[in-house]
Amino acid sequence: MKVLTTVAGAQSQVKHQPRMLVPTMGALHKAHGELIRVASEHAGRNGEVAVSIFVNPLQFEPGSDYERYPRPEKADEEFCRNTGVDLLFRPSLAEMYADDRSVFVEESSLSKTLEGKLRPGHFCGVCTVVAKLFNVLAPDAAVFGEKDFQQLAIVRRMVRDLNFKIDIIAVPTVREADGLACSSRNQYLSSDERKQAAVLHKSLLAAANAGKTSVRELVALVRKTIGEAPLARIDYVELVDTESLQPLEVVRPNSLLAVAVFFGKTRLIDNIRLR
Ligand code: PAF
Repeated sequence: MKVLTTVAGAQSQVKHQPRMLVPTMGALHKAHGELIRVASEHAGRNGEVAVSIFVNPLQFEPGSDYERYPRPEKADEEFCRNTGVDLLFRPSLAEMYADDRSVFVEESSLSKTLEGKLRPGHFCGVCTVVAKLFNVLAPDAAVFGEKDFQQLAIVRRMVRDLNFKIDIIAVPTVREADGLACSSRNQYLSSDERKQAAVLHKSLLAAANAGKTSVRELVALVRKTIGEAPLARIDYVELVDTESLQPLEVVRPNSLLAVAVFFGKTRLIDNIRLR
């Protein structure tokens, strides 16, 4: 596995085969393992898998967990070696951003709902860094998880609107045995919070199986189920269209039920598609 830490070093790598990119912020866990597995599958025998690890300050709002975000460098490198990654790109902050940077990538529609409503600037940070990684690593395809459904939709939109010649591959959410979506932030949870956090997926499944037609009743059911966990504090429960991400007034097929819930200071998100 090649480990590259500079933009110039990464850009000077001649690409002989199709390259699949898995962009990450590190603290790699089994959901990243699944993204890497899918990337390897798409790369085939002749292709290569690149993983980037960069904790991107632009997508953290002031006062959030940028400083305390886990950065287990050695373990991450080991993880990449063990999962057959060919190229690890691990730039420093100075390598990625000039102090006087003044160009950003802003998506102006899908970013306005759900996470974007509560985390101003977050998706501009995501689009900016993903566009930079695409330019630096020149992948043929990039792999993203459906847990961050809005991020996936926005990256697809950016690729379409800015004509990046890159396929975006979506991977279904990877879950722990009790249904909790795998996330680097799960490690912040106390053992009581961790037990109760299973309520997110439970609430989404209950709603998806309830056959409700009223959004109000659907949302109420999710809120009631999450309410069974005393340590949970709901940030939002919303039903949106999977394409436009705009809130829906009636429950209909191809909609996305999304939740954000705090356990202490840790904010978890999850979603389910209603068929
Ligand atoms: O999903 C993530 O880990 C990040 O948002 C990403 C795509 C690596 C951009 O920093």
